[in-house]
Amino acid sequence: MCGIVGYVGKKQCLPILINGLRRLEYRGYDSAGVAILSDGKFNRTRAVGKIDCLADKLKGQTMSGTVGIAHTRWATHGGVTEANAHPHAACDDNLVLAHNGIIENYRELKEKFLQGHEFKSETDTEVLAHLIEAHYKGDLRLAVEQALAHVHGTYGLVVMHMNEPEKIVAARMGSPLVVGVGDGEYYIGSDTSPMLAHTKQVIFLDDGEVAEITPDQLKMFTLQDEKVTKCVENIEWDDEQAQKQGFPHFMLKEIFDQPRSLEDALRGRYDLAEGEAHLGGLNMTPEQMRQVKRVVLLACGTAYYAGLAGKYAFERLADLPTEVDVASEFRYRDPIVDDRTLVFGISQSGETADTLAALREAKRKGAQVRGIVNVIGSTIARETGGGTYIHAGPELAVASSKAYTNMVAILLLYALQFGRLKRVSAATGKRLLDALLEIPGKMKSILEKSDEIKKIAEKYQGARDFMFLGRGINYPVALEGSLKLKEITYIHSEAYPGGELKHGPISMLSPEFPIFALMTQNQLYDKMRSNVQEARARQAKVILVATEGDESVKEIADDVIFVPPTMELLEPLLNTLPLQLFAYHMAVALGCDVDRPRNLAKSVTVE
Ligand code: AGP
Repeated sequence: MCGIVGYVGKKQCLPILINGLRRLEYRGYDSAGVAILSDGKFNRTRAVGKIDCLADKLKGQTMSGTVGIAHTRWATHGGVTEANAHPHAACDDNLVLAHNGIIENYRELKEKFLQGHEFKSETDTEVLAHLIEAHYKGDLRLAVEQALAHVHGTYGLVVMHMNEPEKIVAARMGSPLVVGVGDGEYYIGSDTSPMLAHTKQVIFLDDGEVAEITPDQLKMFTLQDEKVTKCVENIEWDDEQAQKQGFPHFMLKEIFDQPRSLEDALRGRYDLAEGEAHLGGLNMTPEQMRQVKRVVLLACGTAYYAGLAGKYAFERLADLPTEVDVASEFRYRDPIVDDRTLVFGISQSGETADTLAALREAKRKGAQVRGIVNVIGSTIARETGGGTYIHAGPELAVASSKAYTNMVAILLLYALQFGRLKRVSAATGKRLLDALLEIPGKMKSILEKSDEIKKIAEKYQGARDFMFLGRGINYPVALEGSLKLKEITYIHSEAYPGGELKHGPISMLSPEFPIFALMTQNQLYDKMRSNVQEARARQAKVILVATEGDESVKEIADDVIFVPPTMELLEPLLNTLPLQLFAYHMAVALGCDVDRPRNLAKSVTVE
């Protein structure tokens, strides 16, 4: 979704801003713009399309200056046009502003405060620029605070005024902002990626905070203009980790990252001899853990499917009734939770608006809330104040891959941690951990089949529909495989539990409607085999994920991808990989923009 970059310092800021925008491309956007104060006036350039379109437009322009802001826009209010792209200017071009979020009462604000102002775009953001202009009496920070007192909605914003040339004011409510601390310079971003190449020292703004930034000083205030003291935090991710490292796409790199990122997720979080896991972030004594009577997992998209896989582990190992809920549904239901309900919000970005709102709702109703999050310092991580980082490293492709496997692994560890306080023995715990520690090696053997999977994807590139089937723990895997395919290839696909086929969807099957079935050797193997045969009897082409050595499956399949055997609860950690690779190679074969699929954003910070 939209991205913000800002720079205040002594360096020429245009390259810093443009490179920063490129680091934010993964979030998804449809236009971009930059504004720099040069020679006493704002030089503002915007373009529809990719950053390259903006860069082309900037060629030949002299845009010198050491203070500036830039933005990538993902359209919400108003179409994808240059006029709607940020930064926006107020009436006499003396103030420029870029904004992420949604100003809900922008119509009322226009009517009440901005009669006579001339608007040049259809956006809610432009109203904010004019509103700050209307409150400006020589102090930009005060104008921002006074203007925001009238605003309903969400914002992460950066604003500059010509009369205060060496200053950016930033403010946050519901839309993340980070300030990177350099030597006589500051970087601003909607996340840390634009600043990682320059600094790892950062300060996260919290909701209701305003930052006044000049080359020599960062001052923080509340919206009520009270001073705030903030700590500088150190970011562990480096710029190198956030690069493609020779892979043609971030998604492929991230799929191949999985053996290592899984090791990072597990490191130091288990005791093999005792067969137990110890994830510190729970902040509960064993006695408090025994008081937990129910688990609720809240998430969206891929994180939700990771939650569905985790449910099996919680129920089987921890003996805890576990619900998994789509966050956007949970937040508007009347969810029944109490202080014996442990709610986990699962999120790669840690910024997903629906997940955040659902967690707040659960907290309000008295549940104990924790986060399972990738992005360090993100809002969900900070608001829950407890939980665990999944340590997948930067995930930049819009389609999630390594975050999914790490989420599943962390849920398994949590389930084991609870289970060991109940009926799971040290021996059972150890068996599970031994099997888990073998997973990175087994993942590598699946990744070696990438070319084989590519050939299968190319063979089916003419299909316009796919059906993914799985049973038991492989059902969430089918859902995730189907989501990956739709997201990056735009091919219609559905996912069903194998047993549901005959209750309706089987009517769609035909030679043109292939099925992709997960038929590994677990307790539901025979049942799944029957479901595959039902599909085959309708002439559907069959692609199978099956267990190595199970040669008999070749009789009922057109194509087979073999995966190493593992414990049933761990199967999603392996079986998802062929599906990720299939979707990836299909997208490449169809010429799709793998890392930035149309209409999607990496971090969904609006409802
Ligand atoms: C995954 O491939 C998707 N792009 C999407 O479903 C994503 O998982 C969802 O938006 C949740 O994001 P989060 O993990 O950052 O909360």
